Amino acid sequence: MKYQNARFEKFAESFEKHISELKSYLKKQAASFDVEVRKQAAECIKPQGKYLRPLLVYSSAPSKKYSDKELQKRAAAVELIHLASLIHDDVIDNADLRRDEETIFKKFGARTAILLGDAIFAHAMGLSVDGNAPEVSSRAIAVVKTLSQGEIMQTLALNRETDMARYISIIEGKTASLFEFACFLGASLECGAQSEWAKAAQKAGKALGRAYQMYDDICDWDMAESQSGKTAGTDFISEKQTLPVIILLKTLPKRESAKLSKNLKSHSPQDLRQMMSENGVFKKCAEIYEKEVEKARAAIAKFVGKNEKLLEFCDAISSMMPKY
Ligand code: FPP
Ligand code: MG
Repeated sequence: MKYQNARFEKFAESFEKHISELKSYLKKQAASFDVEVRKQAAECIKPQGKYLRPLLVYSSAPSKKYSDKELQKRAAAVELIHLASLIHDDVIDNADLRRDEETIFKKFGARTAILLGDAIFAHAMGLSVDGNAPEVSSRAIAVVKTLSQGEIMQTLALNRETDMARYISIIEGKTASLFEFACFLGASLECGAQSEWAKAAQKAGKALGRAYQMYDDICDWDMAESQSGKTAGTDFISEKQTLPVIILLKTLPKRESAKLSKNLKSHSPQDLRQMMSENGVFKKCAEIYEKEVEKARAAIAKFVGKNEKLLEFCDAISSMMPKY
């Protein structure tokens, strides 16, 4: 099941028509690429993902005019920024599998994958400036800078002890910034960029983005490839200290933790996973995750009449986490 969870599936179904319209719109974008690269561009853009960011754009738009062309263009822009970042990320992570298929990196090699990511990213920027409010284009530019900086911070932290504060700034950069932007896009179109709703929706988006990256990091340790549809264990291979490792290091006795932190690879990933399981690490991670979802709910709680779909998103994403 695409969402690994019936509740999220049901939530996404409530947007089925509009996501399907968005998919057709996205497919058409490949036509603007040079005929020689159109096939590869179409391969990158083809409908596949969970469309979490477009779902956030729609969920943040209170009047529910989800067929609005401007809203659709905004949803497409955020999804294409995401796609471009994943194409680059799979080169960085040397990942062969995503969404149950070979990655663009595996299919076309690093050179073409990097350039396809660049071209799709440029196309997304084109959509963001085309006819949009100036704050949309300036925010789109800023968010890509933040995303890239988050990824750089993560690279600098590889193989080093990463504390919780550092981890949070990394995931805010590489993931939460785009979730926040998605909520801005939906909320600002109808209520204005400076409206209280836009501010609250962005705050919720940021918390949901932190939560989602935590979920992704837990899955990297605790979910089989057959379930997640992407290369598992890349965080161990690249010695990324993400939430499960941070919590494991916090839970172990000091000396053991200091030794392990210096050399994560002194243990096999299976051993580390076992230690995480025995020390209740996944349960603790799930609690931290739920607290983030709760922050999202709290940010939008008072906006009755506007917050319905975003609250549904919170409930749906909350149920994605396995019960540990
Ligand atoms: C997935 O992380 C990666 C990201 C959330 C962001 C990657 C961002 C860049 C590579 C910056 C470049 C961006 C553009 C638009 C040019 P992950 O490896 O933890 O997740 P995964 O399990 O899905 O691979
Ligand atoms: Mg990756």
